[in-house]
Amino acid sequence: MPTTIAEKPSAEVPAGAALETLKITDSRTGKSYEIPIEHGTVKAIDLRQIKTGPEDFGLMTYDPAFMNTASCRSKITFIDGEKGILLYRGYPIDQLAEKCSYLQVAYLILYGELPTVTQLHEWTEHVRMHTFVHENVKRLMDGFRYDAHPMGIFVSTLAALSTFYPEAKNVLDADTRQKQVWRLIGKVPTIAAFAYRHSLGMPYVYPDNDLTYAENFLSMMFRVAESKYRPNRVLARALEVLFILHADHEQNCSTNAMRSIGSSQSDPYCSAAGAAAALYGPLHGGANEAVLRMLDEIGSKANVPAFVRDVKEGKGRLMGFGHRVYKNYDPRAKIIKRMADEVFAETEKNPKLEIALELERIALEDEYFVKRKLYPNVDFYSGLIYQAMKFPVDMFPVMFAIPRMSGWLAQWEEMLMSPEQKIARPRQMYLGAQRRNVPA
Ligand code: ACO
Repeated sequence: MPTTIAEKPSAEVPAGAALETLKITDSRTGKSYEIPIEHGTVKAIDLRQIKTGPEDFGLMTYDPAFMNTASCRSKITFIDGEKGILLYRGYPIDQLAEKCSYLQVAYLILYGELPTVTQLHEWTEHVRMHTFVHENVKRLMDGFRYDAHPMGIFVSTLAALSTFYPEAKNVLDADTRQKQVWRLIGKVPTIAAFAYRHSLGMPYVYPDNDLTYAENFLSMMFRVAESKYRPNRVLARALEVLFILHADHEQNCSTNAMRSIGSSQSDPYCSAAGAAAALYGPLHGGANEAVLRMLDEIGSKANVPAFVRDVKEGKGRLMGFGHRVYKNYDPRAKIIKRMADEVFAETEKNPKLEIALELERIALEDEYFVKRKLYPNVDFYSGLIYQAMKFPVDMFPVMFAIPRMSGWLAQWEEMLMSPEQKIARPRQMYLGAQRRNVPA
């Protein structure tokens, strides 16, 4: 007779519905078990009772890099990687990119519904009220060397904010959490722009709250001596769309870092600094920077076939291609590719576009990439657009972090409010030396 491991079906299984189960026979003991299946998953903890004897710790799952492990229940973002679908709170990314502002989408991601006119007005006011940073934050940023990478400055400054708002550590208090959300969404463009201005040795430009979120960021980045910065409408809208496309992406590396650090009840500034640090790597938010460096290295359209050959021989990767989840065209890349034409009509055409298009054409026909389902991801074209808009390559990961803050904070809130959540603490397979004595 199978031993039923879970004593009762989950409360989420509707009354009267047949309980789906997984039957397991342990060949070591001959015992059988029946484990509930819920939403296509089994609980790893249900396996713990599968033991060879009383001394046995119990069966664990082994899943380096979380290739097949759901770490949480979430209602924020849905991805179907096979079909190339991305939904925020149920809304398709292309509709949001076409019809909404970034602040509307940030509200949706954080609170679950698109804001009404009144809610949007209040939300925008709250964010605007928090765009300025303390003068000591500015002085802290001054202390970095002239050639410091802006992402290093950004990560450090986020962590430093924790010392300016010590009450933020009361993470179980809803009002306190809400205030930090306004602060973080309001301040990240300011910190990002100050990091850039620092690298140029140019005076910091204070926020202009008459402008939209994206326009204000452009003003803080690029304003020189104008009494009023007048952003290019097409470029400001393109930036807004890029912010929308980057706002959340379910349990990616940096979001997992946010949840993991936040699970110890660290304050949101330290948690977000950790998430931003995870985003910095070339396999994640640093990828669009890596794409441009790759395009520079290729140099011309004629060199593309040789480069693709090298990639196939294992001499490096085609940056901006491939994704852990998307095994079809990344829906964000489709939107960006369309937008690139609008941006290049306003700016000089980026000469690297020709190389990128040729690279994409060859790779999409090549069996190596087709077989492995490697398609352009969001980073393949975003770097070209940012560069055409005069953002330096070093700023690319920072540009990603600005809108991703809304996703990190929504996921952090969801994690803290989950009745199931405990401090994140994986197990290991210990394969090292057995106990031994230090020689006398
Ligand atoms: N170029 C060439 N080959 C690749 C690429 C690539 N970009 N990506 C994956 N492959 C190959 C691997 O070599 C492997 O081949 P094999 O089966 O013969 O060994 C196979 O495809 C599977 O690759 P994995 O590394 O197992 O895939 P994983 O899901 O771990 O990696 C990742 C996903 C990190 C995004 C990877 O595709 C990659 O390194 N891409 C380039 C970096 C990049 O663009 N990152 C941005 C991701 S999107 C974002 O963060 C916003």
